[in-house]
Amino acid sequence: MPQPIKVEDLNIYYGDFLAVEDVNVTIQPRSVTALIGPSGCGKSTFLRTLNRMHEVIPGAHAEGTVEIDGQNIYGPGIDPVNVRRRVGMVFQKANPFPTMSIRDNVLAGAKLNNRRLPRREADELVERSLRGANLWEEVKDRLDKPGLGLSGGQQQRLCIARTIAVKPEVVLMDEPCSALDPISTLAIEDLIHELKKDYTIVIVTHNMQQASRVSDRTGFFNIAGTGKPGHLIEIDDTEKMFTNPENEQTENYISGKFG
Ligand SMILES: Nc1ncnc2c1ncn2[C@@H]1O[C@H](COP(=O)(O)OP(=O)(O)O)[C@@H](O)[C@H]1O
Ligand SMILES: [Mg+2]
Repeated sequence: MPQPIKVEDLNIYYGDFLAVEDVNVTIQPRSVTALIGPSGCGKSTFLRTLNRMHEVIPGAHAEGTVEIDGQNIYGPGIDPVNVRRRVGMVFQKANPFPTMSIRDNVLAGAKLNNRRLPRREADELVERSLRGANLWEEVKDRLDKPGLGLSGGQQQRLCIARTIAVKPEVVLMDEPCSALDPISTLAIEDLIHELKKDYTIVIVTHNMQQASRVSDRTGFFNIAGTGKPGHLIEIDDTEKMFTNPENEQTENYISGKFG
């Protein structure tokens, strides 16, 4: 079992602007943690610090520690590219590589990491990843067709297949269903249930029903006002967060008083 993700004293900046302040949280391995909160409170910003994607934005940086499987990913000598292999990310809008076949999309990340992949190993990896993403049966007869020919929900599962093909420890998802219809959304939610057997999953969602359906733990972020930093207000077992939260701000948010 991997160790928990430990975030300590994390402050996240865009240039001089402190966007998220003082996050301290432990994220349990092989479980689903949902992050909820009003728009602009820093959910995506926080998520991107968990695989060092944040600092790709010019001027953006983070202070503090994020320990993944016992290693501070902000420690000296850590290669962010390697961190992003261990901690994969799925975005709001499915983003298969437009010129690539379904097969090559699945292999894209794995090929970057390991250029010489024999055909048979590649075939096995494609099948295993597509099965893992609950997509194999739907695409096995058209692996050489473009990824863009798939429906939105299938494209999102293709992106999940591409993410798990590099065998990450953690999968981050930023509103992965917000562009999908209800049936495709349920397919992704079912898939998340399957994936947590093998991966630690952190998912941002603005849909509270979704958070309560898919997650074991839920964290609530909030901001005091525009220009103020976001804070992680409370994190607890999902059932408790939605029935009996400790914090009044959480209570007001989940009961629909704002946001
Ligand atoms: N690329 C960026 N450059 C500068 N500020 C940003 C950038 N992305 C987000 N922000 C700011 O950081 C704060 C948190 O945004 P974000 O993490 O996107 O919130 P959420 O995902 O909760 O809606 C907001 O004030 C937003 O304007
Ligand atoms: Mg966001």
